[in-house]
Amino acid sequence: MLRVEDLHVSYQSVAAVRGVSLEVPDGAIVGLVGANGAGKTSTLNAITGLVARRGTTVFDGYDISQLSTANIVRCGVVQVAQGRQLFPDMTVLENLEMGGFLHPASKVQEQLEKVFAQFVVLKERAAQRAGTLSGGEQQMLAVGRALMSDPKILLIDEPCLGLSPKMVGRLGEIVREVNARGIAVLLVEQNTAFVFGLAGFAYVIENGRVVLSGTPEQLRSDDRVRSAYLGI
Ligand SMILES: Nc1ncnc2c1ncn2[C@@H]1O[C@H](COP(=O)(O)OP(=O)(O)OP(=O)(O)O)[C@@H](O)[C@H]1O
Ligand SMILES: [Mg+2]
Repeated sequence: MLRVEDLHVSYQSVAAVRGVSLEVPDGAIVGLVGANGAGKTSTLNAITGLVARRGTTVFDGYDISQLSTANIVRCGVVQVAQGRQLFPDMTVLENLEMGGFLHPASKVQEQLEKVFAQFVVLKERAAQRAGTLSGGEQQMLAVGRALMSDPKILLIDEPCLGLSPKMVGRLGEIVREVNARGIAVLLVEQNTAFVFGLAGFAYVIENGRVVLSGTPEQLRSDDRVRSAYLGI
């Protein structure tokens, strides 16, 4: 369903993504793991058109490689940014409404009800400023805001960052719930164990290149993955 082929991203003279290819089948959870600076965020930004890129991205049979970010979102490909990137001085409700900006008001209301049904805490705190939420609640809001645009696939960038183990557990449930609604997920994380617990398939990225891929079971038994990413 999402197919990325030979993707390249460079910042001035520095090549951050050097020929990444990956696939996310319909309704799947696929992981992309790698260390600091490996090129994970740059890969997602290239897929959603936030940075200049070379390569081919095909989604649902359409070549979206050259589309603007707004049109890529219209196709159903939506990113949950690393660091959440909420509007801290706006309320929870206003942040969610921003996520629905491409839709008519009736559709926004419908999406809002779905998001509030999944994240009761966001409903309870609808009038509260986003910046006053806990880290875990802010991550829920970031996911909720992305869901407002009724995506077919979510690209989630390091959602575990800064969260307590308990919140990481809750986040895992959220990813499963989202996926159970038929939304595919490309899950980017340094937390390899988290990804392996959720994804059916994962890619390992180093220095802008995919160096390994396989099912979590296959990757867990790889010595390089065990020492570099799982600390075993
Ligand atoms: N806007 C930018 N300008 C210049 N270099 C950049 C820019 N953004 C990222 N880079 C560089 O590109 C490389 C890949 O960065 P990227 O943010 O994609 O990695 P990452 O895997 O997401 O890392 P992290 O886990 O720390 O988020 C790094 O060397 C980084 O320093
Ligand atoms: Mg990143």
